[in-house]
Amino acid sequence: MEFRHLGRSGLMVSEISYGNWLTHGSQVEEDAAKLCVQAALDEGITTFDTADVYAGTKAEEVLGRALKGVRRESLEIFTKVYWPTGAGKNDRGLSRKHVVESIHGSLRRLQTDYVDLYQAHRFDYETPLEETLKTFDDLVRQGKVLYVGVSEWTADQIAQALKIADEMGFDRIVSNQPQYSMLWRVIESEIVPLSEKEGVSQVVFSPIAQGVLTGKYVPGQQPPEGSRATDKSGSAMIARFMNDDVLSRVQELKPIAADLGLTMAQLAVAWVLQNPNVASAIVGATRPEQVRDNVKAAGVKLDADVLKRIDDVLGSVVERDPAKTVSPNPRA
Ligand SMILES: NC(=O)c1ccc[n+]([C@@H]2O[C@H](COP(=O)([O-])OP(=O)(O)OC[C@H]3O[C@@H](n4cnc5c(N)ncnc54)[C@H](OP(=O)(O)O)[C@@H]3O)[C@@H](O)[C@H]2O)c1
Repeated sequence: MEFRHLGRSGLMVSEISYGNWLTHGSQVEEDAAKLCVQAALDEGITTFDTADVYAGTKAEEVLGRALKGVRRESLEIFTKVYWPTGAGKNDRGLSRKHVVESIHGSLRRLQTDYVDLYQAHRFDYETPLEETLKTFDDLVRQGKVLYVGVSEWTADQIAQALKIADEMGFDRIVSNQPQYSMLWRVIESEIVPLSEKEGVSQVVFSPIAQGVLTGKYVPGQQPPEGSRATDKSGSAMIARFMNDDVLSRVQELKPIAADLGLTMAQLAVAWVLQNPNVASAIVGATRPEQVRDNVKAAGVKLDADVLKRIDDVLGSVVERDPAKTVSPNPRA
C-alpha cells in the first residue's frame, strides 16, 4: 500500500480506502462484510469510510464491529453527516443540533472516541455556513473529530468555507469527497484547481463507477446475478451508466488493461490515482476477492499514451460538466 497526505495536513491516508455504502447492513450479510474489512486490513488499507445515513445507521455499526480489536492508532476512520437519520425536522442537515447529535450517534455505533475525518455529506442551504463550521471547530477542540472535510460541494462552496474559516480562525477543511472516475470527471475544471491552491485533497468515491468499469455489465445481456445492478437499492444508483453506449465503450477498455497486465478494476482505480490532488480512492466491495483485486492498483503509474487511449475509447460518454456537482436545495 502507498500513503498520501490528506490535503495540507499531517494526516496520511492509504491511497486506496474501503467504503461501506450500499453493502454493509444491506446488500451483504455481516459475515461477508467482516471478511471484506479483514481483506482490506490484510492488504494494507488503513482508511475506512462510512456515513451516519448508510443502511439507516446500520453500516456504521457493522464497521464498528468489524474493526473491533484493531489498534485504533493504525486506522483512519471517516464518517459523514447531512442526510436524514430520522423522520424529525432536525434529523438532517448541518445545524449545530443535528451535527452534535449525529457525531454522538456515529461515535457510539463505531465504538470509538473520535473519528479521524468528519465530512459534511452535502452543502446545506438552510443553515448558515458559520454555524456548521463553528460546530465542526468545536468538535475538533473537543477531540471528537480530528479533521474536517466536505462531500460533493462546489468550488464556490469550498471557497466560501475556507474564507470563513480563515476569518474566524476555525479549523480549515482538508478534503472534499466527490464522485470521480474515468466516466465522471466533473471536478476537474473548477474543484481540483481551487483545491490544489488551497491544500484540499479529493477523497474520491465510485472510482469503478459502482462496478461498471470492471466490464462485467455487457450491453444487451442481463447483469450478473448478485451484482449491484440487480440489487434493490443499488440498481437506481448505477442506472446512469447502464446504457449501451457507455457499456460497449467500457468493453473496449479491456485490451488496454490487458496490455498493462491489469484487471479492469485495477485500471479504473489506478486512473483516479494519477491525479495528484486525489489523496485516496474509496472502493466498495461485496466480496473479499474484489478488495484484493482492487488494492493492486496502488502505486501503478499510467503513461500519457495509455491515458490518451482511454480518452479515445470513452470519447463523448465522459461527463465533465461542473454543474453536475449539486446539493439538494431545500435540503433533503
Ligand atoms: N460521499 C458520497 O456521497 C458517496 C457516494 C457514494 C459512495 N461513497 C463512498 O465511496 C465508497 C465506494 O463507492 P462505490 O461502492 O460506489 O465504489 P466502487 O468501488 O466504484 O463500486 C463498488 C462496487 O463495484 C463492484 N466491484 C468492486 N470491485 C469489483 C471487482 N474487482 N470486480 C467486480 N466487481 C467489483 C461491487 O459491487 P457488486 O459486487 O454488487 O457488483 C462493489 O460494491 C462507498 O462505500 C462510500 O464510502 C460516498
